[in-house]
Amino acid sequence: MRLILLGPPGAGKGTQAARLEKHFGIKQLSTGDMLRAAVASGSEIGQQAKAVMERGELVSDEIVVGIISDVVDQDEVANGYILDGFPRTVAQAEALDAMLREKSSKLDCVVEMKVDDSVLVARITGRYTCAKCGAGYHKEFQKPQTEGVCDNCGGTEFKTRADDNEETVKSRLVAYHAQTAPLIDYYGKKGLLRSVDGMADIDEVTKEIVSVLEKVKAA
Ligand code: AP5
Repeated sequence: MRLILLGPPGAGKGTQAARLEKHFGIKQLSTGDMLRAAVASGSEIGQQAKAVMERGELVSDEIVVGIISDVVDQDEVANGYILDGFPRTVAQAEALDAMLREKSSKLDCVVEMKVDDSVLVARITGRYTCAKCGAGYHKEFQKPQTEGVCDNCGGTEFKTRADDNEETVKSRLVAYHAQTAPLIDYYGKKGLLRSVDGMADIDEVTKEIVSVLEKVKAA
């Protein structure tokens, strides 16, 4: 199964992608994670992306399409994948269509996570991840079972993202509405779009997405 999770920053794409990865045995491909790894490694792409990401703007289509076209060719995604944070512009969506055509492959579904802007700043500014395994938490909505200890790996060090401050989140929301929201119409016209209520609690959202995808699989 090949699917896209579409939604504004803080909608819960990464949270749900990690759960769907386990449920369906398909790989999460997050362009945000790939770009952050490039920034951390100090590579040329990372150096180009760093300031853009810190301003909350979108990295160039050319860089992001290049990154994705390398990973969708790998054997580990032969079973399918969950695109988290890509595509983010109509140009990226068209490039993805061309990539899939070339491989005689296709998307099965685009899941839009509908969340009001009013809750997104609180979701993002309260987010933190385990420094060892990357598991995601929130200081209010998704706490580890034992405070200060990662449920997944037992790690005790946590980190926050450089772009998770209120000012940058506002720029990211502007970028989402101007450049990414048009994809809702783009995929709606292709008959691929399914929308879920991303305002519900995390487990409820997972149930709804799984139910949507089971129906798509069975069709
Ligand atoms: P990226 O890393 O993709 O960030 P984003 O889209 O802004 O999304 P987030 O990771 O902030 O949010 P999410 O939807 O994954 O939410 P999460 O599950 O963590 O991109 C970062 C930057 O990289 C971009 O700004 C851009 O510069 C660049 N970039 C990346 N891809 C690009 C592309 N294709 N083109 C160009 N540039 C690109 O949840 C957030 C928090 O809320 C968590 O703490 C979680 O615990 C909590 N939460 C989740 N769901 C719920 C719920 N239902 N109820 C309550 N809390 C919840």
